[in-house]
Amino acid sequence: MSNRPVKIGNLKLKNPIILASGTFDRGIADKIDLNKLGGIVTKTITLKPRKGNPLPHIFKTKYGWLNSVGWKNLGLKKYLAEELPFWQNFKTEIITSIGGFSFEEYIKITKILEQKKIKIIEIDVSCMNIDKSDTTSDKKIISNIRKLFSGTIIVKLAPDIIDVCDNAKSAITAGAEALTIANTYPGLELVNGKPIFSRKIAGYSGGAIKPLTMAMVWKVSQKFRCPIIASGGAENTQDVLDYLTVGAKAVQIGSANFLNPKISAKIVDELKRR
Ligand SMILES: Cc1cc2nc3c(=O)[nH]c(=O)nc-3n(C[C@H](O)[C@H](O)[C@H](O)COP(=O)(O)O)c2cc1C
Repeated sequence: MSNRPVKIGNLKLKNPIILASGTFDRGIADKIDLNKLGGIVTKTITLKPRKGNPLPHIFKTKYGWLNSVGWKNLGLKKYLAEELPFWQNFKTEIITSIGGFSFEEYIKITKILEQKKIKIIEIDVSCMNIDKSDTTSDKKIISNIRKLFSGTIIVKLAPDIIDVCDNAKSAITAGAEALTIANTYPGLELVNGKPIFSRKIAGYSGGAIKPLTMAMVWKVSQKFRCPIIASGGAENTQDVLDYLTVGAKAVQIGSANFLNPKISAKIVDELKRR
């Protein structure tokens, strides 16, 4: 039975299946029983609302997906008033994903979330579809959030193909209780000889990236005891089992939701028999 409860720091999930940030909307609640899931990571929020990058935001390639959404979101105020209460109706752990363009923005968001007694955050320091206006290191951001936030901190790493262990060590030292490995990979594709996205390079996700992210999960799990949440190309039950085998505690389902919004609940059911 692989659908057993999992502990991630102080956080207990009823099973290892989590919806990945930015890959679903409220409509998914009409399609599956969200109470079945271990957790849900909501769309990354910034302090102020953001329109995101110019369209298009998403493109299906031969083997995966490219996205250039650029943290399009409602902003913190509306998130707390409208979005969070919607997800809190379900009996699953809600993980609030936060992003910022400067050190100060991360700190302001954290102070408000602490006041509102939010219990779990995933810090997105890994989005490649934005330009940070500030060169403040992720380590400084995480360690200062740690001082202000009493709940569970998950840090979502960028897929640093040179050595993900350096990023992992830095996040753990700064206070991460869990790591999400990883975000999308830099990708570029042309249509009729022209780049699809205005920023040219976009985030590559989907089944094609699974072996890349598997390698990173394995590397980090060999070196550190910090719980790992895998995020990268998991499309079915076997993919989830593969991630659990190489050291992940839980697995996020992302782009797979685009083709089959019922897939995460199906995986939870199938894990009962594995
Ligand atoms: C359209 C789209 C939007 C995304 N938005 C976010 C986001 O706001 N915050 C974040 O941390 N990750 C975001 N991601 C990354 C996913 O959460 C996930 O980490 C990544 O797509 C890899 O997993 P997958 O191959 O299963 O999709 C987004 C991915 C896609 C495809």
